[in-house]
Amino acid sequence: MSAVAHPEYSALPFIPKSHSVKKLREAAQYCQGCPLFENASQTVFGEGHSDPTIMLVGEQPGDQEDVAGKPFVGPAGKLLDICMREAGISREQAYVTNIVKHFKWVQRGKRRIHDQPNAMEVTACKPWLEAEMEAVHPKLVIALGATAAQGLAGRNFRVTRQRGEIIRVEKYPPIMATVHPSSLLRQATSEDRHRETHLFIADLKKGAEFVSGKKFLGKL
Ligand code: URA
Ligand code: SF4
Repeated sequence: MSAVAHPEYSALPFIPKSHSVKKLREAAQYCQGCPLFENASQTVFGEGHSDPTIMLVGEQPGDQEDVAGKPFVGPAGKLLDICMREAGISREQAYVTNIVKHFKWVQRGKRRIHDQPNAMEVTACKPWLEAEMEAVHPKLVIALGATAAQGLAGRNFRVTRQRGEIIRVEKYPPIMATVHPSSLLRQATSEDRHRETHLFIADLKKGAEFVSGKKFLGKL
């Protein structure tokens, strides 16, 4: 579905002039820029260091994030914390957010199951992320998974082919994409999970090396 077909969906009218993260977070609680606010508990805005070296961008809050009002506090977030630590990135020096800020879900029995946001919802919500990037100006944005990567770098971006590369998108800080930590939790065997987790940590390390300017050997 093309975003152009629904130009009425956009967070833009809800974004305040003042671009402090605090003001943005307060205003985002009232966003009705797309239909996703209707079925979620609250807006889950980004949080972290006010002058971060790295911003991590996930897809959308999950069930636990929706309840807590904080990004990456559930199972994927706990794994992300461990992998970040392994890669030498502390959650305190980073800013963590999502490209879509309301939980989209479908009922399955008693559980609320994650439902992938569509391109229209990503486009509608992206102005919040752009405002966050302007407010905290990270040295590097790490997109976690295809939704965030394609939302930032375009629909032709392929995480499988381009993970770990630093790419440039006009008006944005340097971007690197890798897989989403929840994909590690879905691996079929423990062998697969170990391998994929190591690859994920290796990507995060490339990001850490890029911002520290030490020995980034990838393409620029
Ligand atoms: N998955 C995400 O993409 N973001 C969160 O905040 C939690 C899980
Ligand atoms: Fe606004 Fe984003 Fe929530 Fe849609 S998902 S209502 S654009 S904050």
